[in-house]
Amino acid sequence: MDPERARQYPFLPSGGAGLPVARTEGSFLILPDGRRILDAAGGAVVASIGHGRAEVAEVAARALAETSYVVPPFVTEDRVRLVERLRASWLPAGITRCMFASGGSEAIDLAIRVTRQHFVSKGEPARWKVIGRELSYHGTTLSGLDIGGHVKRRKGMEPWLHDLPKAPACYPLRCGMCRGAGRCTLACADAVEDAIRRAGPETVAAFVFEPVGGSTAGALTSPPDYLARVGEICRRHGILTIADEVMSGFGRTGARFAVDHDGFVPDLLVGGKGLAAGYAPIVGLFAREAVVAPIAARGDEVMFYTYAAHPAACAVAEKVLEIVEREGLVARAARMGEALRERLVATLGAHPHVAEIRGKGLLQAIELVKDRATLAPFAPEDRITATIVAAGLGNGAFFYPGGAGAAQDVIVLGPPFTVSEGELDLLANALVKSIDSAAAHAAARRG
Ligand SMILES: Cc1ncc(COP(=O)(O)O)c(C=O)c1O
Repeated sequence: MDPERARQYPFLPSGGAGLPVARTEGSFLILPDGRRILDAAGGAVVASIGHGRAEVAEVAARALAETSYVVPPFVTEDRVRLVERLRASWLPAGITRCMFASGGSEAIDLAIRVTRQHFVSKGEPARWKVIGRELSYHGTTLSGLDIGGHVKRRKGMEPWLHDLPKAPACYPLRCGMCRGAGRCTLACADAVEDAIRRAGPETVAAFVFEPVGGSTAGALTSPPDYLARVGEICRRHGILTIADEVMSGFGRTGARFAVDHDGFVPDLLVGGKGLAAGYAPIVGLFAREAVVAPIAARGDEVMFYTYAAHPAACAVAEKVLEIVEREGLVARAARMGEALRERLVATLGAHPHVAEIRGKGLLQAIELVKDRATLAPFAPEDRITATIVAAGLGNGAFFYPGGAGAAQDVIVLGPPFTVSEGELDLLANALVKSIDSAAAHAAARRG
């Protein structure tokens, strides 16, 4: 594309031009000059079934021709079919109610509103606070920033935000809580109760968490029994649990939802990018009957977003889930996740700048440090993550940049579930080359 035309796209004049992409196909982005870039992050960890599926495009065309738009409360065949499939094959037992939004931030905001309506309807209007965790991300609406622990993204917005207590992240690499015990004592779970106490338990409505984190600190997982203990704490205090699976849901971690690995069923579940795999903007809020019952009993409504449950988006999502089921892609995500991990450990396991390789299934991340022994980070001016991502494009792969707080430099990997072994070789080779060249660049800068 003519660079002059490309420069019209960014909102900020300083934004420069992004990567021009002509087409997407399978695991690849295809540039206007024909170059093929491996989509090692599936976009923003979205493209689970791979790009360019004609049968999905055909469903979208059919749905758009049939019903271009009707308000979200109206019932259409495509809407009902999606809810039926979700209930029959996807949602954890006990979670039955479905409402939709056009993106993750919107769906999280909806979860907060539903939580608040639940308690107001039940006659507990003092409960409104939502306790989140450090190093978490729940979207860019003001409510999402409020409950999230991504300090940089909150910066400047503080007048709009509440200063609610945050529970610590589960971050064994740098955990100071169990030091001395020699093992994980689940102090991070007990700290959720401390945060609830600091907030005032009778004012707390919900605890929100990512069972496997996204790009903020890079695919942080939680220790076994963490969710069971946190669930018990929340139940004891009459607090709802909200699992944010915008990134980890719909097969990404090798289970339908990441909470399934722990057999944990939250009260509300938000997911996800994998619902329509990038073919349509749709994210779901799913809830237990007991969450919506008091709202319904009072005859209240939950206000919809105009584009929520768009008929074509529902049709596309239903088709995407059918493909995932038909091709056994959740099991494949688990299998290819192992294959990815093996390659990462083989190529980067002893790398002087790799502090940790972590994650589950096909949601993995590499944390980079200047010194592996002390875990000292690179200087921020080294811009190591950005340099690796730029080098990756030169080496034929797109890696997703992450990192926040103590986990300053993180590369996130989330290829399509359909990724092949050969493509994983390409990914690992491009990643090692990109890390080495970025580290050499940083060393040269230091002189
Ligand atoms: C866990 C989590 N929650 C919420 C969001 C926000 O979703 P969106 O960017 O679709 O608004 C994201 C986005 O990456 C996410 O990973």
